[in-house]
Amino acid sequence: MRIEARPKVNPKSIKTSNEASVAIAKLRDAIRYHNYRYYILDSPVITDIEYDRFFLTLLELEEKFPELKTSDSPTQKVGAEPRQELGLVRHPIPMVSLKTVYDESAVYTFDESCRRELGISKVEYIAEPKFDGLAVELIYEKGILTVASTRGDGETGEDVTANIRTIREVPLVLLSYEGEKSPNSLVVRGEVYMSFASFNALNKAREKNGESTFANPRNAAAGSLRQLDPKITAGRSLQIFLYSVAEATGREFKTQAEVLHSLSKWGLKTNIARTKICHDIKEALVYHNEMDELRDILPYEIDGVVIKINNLADQSRLGMRTRDPKWAVAYKFKPRSATTKLRDIIIQVGRTGRLTPVAELDPVNVGGVEVARATLHNFSEVLRKDLRIGDTVIIERAGDVIPQVVIPIESKRDGTEIKFQIPKDCPICEYPISVSSDKKTATCTNIRCPAQLRRSLSHFVSRSGMDIEGLGQKRIDQLIDAGLVNSISSIYLLTAEQLGELERFGDRSSESLIEEISKSKKQPFHRLLFALGIPQVGSQTAKILASEFGSMERLQKASLFELQQIDSIGPEIARSITEFFADADTRDTISELTRAGLSMSTMKGRSSTSSGKFKGLTFVFTGTLTRWRREEAATIVELQGGTVSSSVSSKIDYVVAGAEAGSKLQKAKKLGVKILSEADFAKLIE
Ligand code: IVH
Repeated sequence: MRIEARPKVNPKSIKTSNEASVAIAKLRDAIRYHNYRYYILDSPVITDIEYDRFFLTLLELEEKFPELKTSDSPTQKVGAEPRQELGLVRHPIPMVSLKTVYDESAVYTFDESCRRELGISKVEYIAEPKFDGLAVELIYEKGILTVASTRGDGETGEDVTANIRTIREVPLVLLSYEGEKSPNSLVVRGEVYMSFASFNALNKAREKNGESTFANPRNAAAGSLRQLDPKITAGRSLQIFLYSVAEATGREFKTQAEVLHSLSKWGLKTNIARTKICHDIKEALVYHNEMDELRDILPYEIDGVVIKINNLADQSRLGMRTRDPKWAVAYKFKPRSATTKLRDIIIQVGRTGRLTPVAELDPVNVGGVEVARATLHNFSEVLRKDLRIGDTVIIERAGDVIPQVVIPIESKRDGTEIKFQIPKDCPICEYPISVSSDKKTATCTNIRCPAQLRRSLSHFVSRSGMDIEGLGQKRIDQLIDAGLVNSISSIYLLTAEQLGELERFGDRSSESLIEEISKSKKQPFHRLLFALGIPQVGSQTAKILASEFGSMERLQKASLFELQQIDSIGPEIARSITEFFADADTRDTISELTRAGLSMSTMKGRSSTSSGKFKGLTFVFTGTLTRWRREEAATIVELQGGTVSSSVSSKIDYVVAGAEAGSKLQKAKKLGVKILSEADFAKLIE
């Protein structure tokens, strides 16, 4: 059976148990599918609001037709089955979810049932921000972090211990401030998240490298934490807030407020500052409004507030339902969404020739921000959503994340809407475009496409590239439009006379630009590699490639296999590099750049490295050095004419092993490479 991702179910029109059974089956399938996309793939295809709508409809139907309730329904479970590859961790106590409510009346109902069941007239609550990240559990034995896991299906989660250890805010050893000694065994829970700033920086870098971007900070956090290689997690700025204790041997807490204070005193990050004790439910509602206002100012995403009974004995008295406790609710904020008209779908051409559809909208205010454009991600998205030009659409904005077009409102169609078709040709240069079979990537096949050239040239001359001052986007456009530049390499053929004939170029500025361009020829080889804009090769990878291969000639000839021998280069990057160099236009550009006299090897342009006592010697540093940072040690070697490599092979002359050196040291021993301690190295450089 085919699963409908968006089943059309109207609970009001369902009268019989038979009808309900069909609708319930559809909803369960859809919800299971979306759980899988959200929790396992970190790549949801619907928004939280849409998901919640399906979930609430299913709950409503199961309540109306209790005979159809089953224990395997998604309403009875949390999350999704964990991913096996990471290793599994069984939670000592199940990790449950929270009941979600969307309006004040449901909060009052919650309060009433708390008061009724406890037999008291007023309940003290504690209200906290609802962080939009992913739930994790940390286990500390004798104060030392031993296991960390994701929530998974609530019973069993994924083992992310190594990854969690890379988060700076997570203490590896608990502390004791103000005499708060940490318990022998402590099981704490909280939320790992990514700030808007880190999320935007990450997406920017990914876009620059031709990688796919994350839809929102939550997906970025989940995708970063659920990595098989903790080095990847370490490179992403993740943060954490802890908010509950599941177990603490020999330590009794009276209130949730006390829990939060103790966590802080043990060195665990909490958000007490934004937490509020509410003497009755009305104060919790005021808090909800305050936080809703704050939402746009906070550096991270919150999607509501969590209202909990503060007294833990009262929490235990109320107990649990199957998937959530009776003593807490998540009161979500209204989504920042709006309805507007989809005026047009335009196509942008990126530096790597990638085509991206963008929605042009009737400007509309979404949560205080005027939105006239929204990303459509890729062609497959536009087709899947069946977006038509002229449609009335719902758009949504999460934090300061780029607005997205969620869905068209089909009932508002009048027949004049125009179905979207993937263009056959590039909108800029009219060359044919190539579309992948899943329709997720489309690229212009013309490497000299002006749109690509504009972007690749501005990348080439950028500060971290060839660093050519005075060649901003406007001037680049001017040069391309005047026909003076038709490839990256042609900037090196420009003359001051040619520039002098252009508008806004005086003699002085023409000459100084030519000088800047000429100066850039001396930039080191790794900068040139980065500046070329090889998809997925950022400045760090460019440095590694330069030091591993030493010259353009060798790198161009490198096979997939050779590239993958380098630690940080996986199959995808390796393929991207070989494809880049296989292209005839790329090869032409490189020949022209060589002729222009650019540094095509690590030796050229770095006079200090061509002599010195380490000339011809290659070093690998591994483990932790105490006297220098790794980069400093590498510079010392390079200044003496040596080379630094990141992987061990029989070609290496010295492996310098610091504390806790691991697999590289083993490999060096096996290959019989000379091993130096940090002290040996110090002696050597004296
Ligand atoms: S308490 C038994 N407090 O929201 C209740 N959860 O939708 C345990 N969340 O699974 C959760 N902020 O991942 C709690 N201040 C907070 C929270 C919070 C975010 C998440 C958590 C939970 C989910 C439920």
